[in-house]
Amino acid sequence: MTVMIKENISSQTHSAPSLTGRAGGESVTILGIESSCDDTSAAVIRDGVLLSNVTASQAVHEAYGGVVPELASRAHQQNIVPVVDQALKKAGVSREELTAIAFTRGPGLMGSLLVGVSFAKGLAAALNIPMIDVNHLQGHILAHFIKTQPTEESQPPFPFLCLLVSGGNSQIVLVKAYNDMEIIGQTIDDAAGEAIDKCSKVMGLGYPGGPIIDRLARQGNPDAYHFSEPHIPGYDYSFSGLKTSFLYNLRDWMQEDPDFIEHHKEDLAASLEHTVVDILMKKLRLAARDLKIRHVAVAGGVSANTGLRQAFQDYARRYHWHVYIPPFSFTTDNAAMIAIAGYFKYQDRDFCPMEAPAYSRVSI
Ligand code: KG4
Repeated sequence: MTVMIKENISSQTHSAPSLTGRAGGESVTILGIESSCDDTSAAVIRDGVLLSNVTASQAVHEAYGGVVPELASRAHQQNIVPVVDQALKKAGVSREELTAIAFTRGPGLMGSLLVGVSFAKGLAAALNIPMIDVNHLQGHILAHFIKTQPTEESQPPFPFLCLLVSGGNSQIVLVKAYNDMEIIGQTIDDAAGEAIDKCSKVMGLGYPGGPIIDRLARQGNPDAYHFSEPHIPGYDYSFSGLKTSFLYNLRDWMQEDPDFIEHHKEDLAASLEHTVVDILMKKLRLAARDLKIRHVAVAGGVSANTGLRQAFQDYARRYHWHVYIPPFSFTTDNAAMIAIAGYFKYQDRDFCPMEAPAYSRVSI
């Protein structure tokens, strides 16, 4: 089984500031663990500053065109110990220096979650330190508060809107505080990432489709083809109609030219991406206008998309928004976002009991 470990480590030359947290002004050092889907990740954050972020991704799913839950769970079991070990080593932190362990409790694949949850419980019990359960979706949003340097100050002020877009979610979230978030719009069927992945699969491209569509789209014409856009009230989304429209159009075009995809894949990708981004941004703009909020962030795997990132910059210019776009390393699943969410919960002494179960489905 291939395991790719990528790291995102801040400079370890700076000394971490001693801020709030434990009595007596001691540093607060949180180990974050993320295992909700197909990335095993561990990160160490000290007083809000990232010291290490190590992720092992699982190439085994590529051959199946999607994540195979049982294989994901097994790979997490293989990866969790070396990944945590590396994260501690890179951070220069010993287990005994940890203040608490934050872990993803859900939502996600149950078999995957259980590996991280069980590991967190075992380590917390052995070290006799508190456990902090983190909602994966809140983690994505709180990734905007990760500091890689103590002096970093580019975080969104409350309240702000966050477009949370991943393989499983497309939501507009009103973020009132670290621990107070409200979903004001969400997809009623497929998520944006899911729709892109499925269209990519129909085109016979690899998995996951998002990054491939992104790459192809850079060489195509976004106005070459038009796919149906949904008419859903309020701030909700729908992507299943787009997927069907893409499929039916492709079927018709291929009757005339069996090599249509090969001949037009760049234009198809660019037009698909353009439609998805357009759908996402129109509702976000509506919400921002109605709520009179100008601070707007994006989070989740699809926030790595070049077209979406450009659209955020365009809207910032057009509507005088302040936009917050995460570094690429914090767009997909990572433990740094779990550690920072845990850090904030630690301030409230919001711990979870040892018997806390994992949740495969849970809202923000
Ligand atoms: O947040 P994430 O890593 O996992 C969850 O779904 O929780 O998001 C994965 C999704 C996939 O659908 C993937 O295709 C999409 O993010 N994605 C992208 C890009 N990179 C990842 N979609 C469009 N453009 C990208 N560059």
